[in-house]
Amino acid sequence: MALVILAHPNFQNSFANKIIIEELLNSNMGIEVRNLFDLYPDYNIDVKAEQTALLEHTTIVFQYPFYWYNMPAILKQWFDVVFEYQFAYGSKGDKLKGKNFLASFTVGAPKNGYQTLGDHHFPILDFCKNIEQTAYYAKMNFIDPIYFHGTSTAAGYSAEEITRSAKEHSKRLILCLEELNRELLTTL
Ligand SMILES: Cc1cc2nc3c(=O)[nH]c(=O)nc-3n(C[C@H](O)[C@H](O)[C@H](O)COP(=O)(O)O)c2cc1C
Repeated sequence: MALVILAHPNFQNSFANKIIIEELLNSNMGIEVRNLFDLYPDYNIDVKAEQTALLEHTTIVFQYPFYWYNMPAILKQWFDVVFEYQFAYGSKGDKLKGKNFLASFTVGAPKNGYQTLGDHHFPILDFCKNIEQTAYYAKMNFIDPIYFHGTSTAAGYSAEEITRSAKEHSKRLILCLEELNRELLTTL
């Protein structure tokens, strides 16, 4: 089943990501969640433990809040040390080949800001080119990211709206994981 790499610097106070994780765990899909901040509050990532977890799964979900048009720093650190030479890339670096790479994240600001004349100027997927190429370089299957806009109460979103969006997001994510599972079963 899927492995979820959860990277949230303040998960205790999370609203949106917490709902998504709860919905995933309630789906009874046998999902394993690795909460990077619980495991490595000092950013001292156990590379072998992370690589072992990757080897045991076919689909890897990266769950995080969108921070400064990117992923939180601990997840970048995770990629820097876990996707190492001769593991993720290099002449013998095919250990992740064929695995599914699925980014699932929450975006604070509304969608209308993510266009040429908006505050954020570019659509969200433009900010995902780095992870897309990371997946390709590791010979993984890059699955279209799943995300939603409007997680910020400061931007005027109510708890009810955020809850509804997070639950819709979770449904899309679970449907995607079920589809990936079906594809896997047909190849066995
Ligand atoms: C350090 C930081 C950087 C952020 N950067 C962005 C950003 O670049 N674009 C955006 O739309 N929202 C940004 N946000 C808002 C987060 O995406 C939002 O707080 C998060 O999706 C909410 O999820 P949560 O309820 O699980 O914490 C940022 C928030 C923080 C704390």
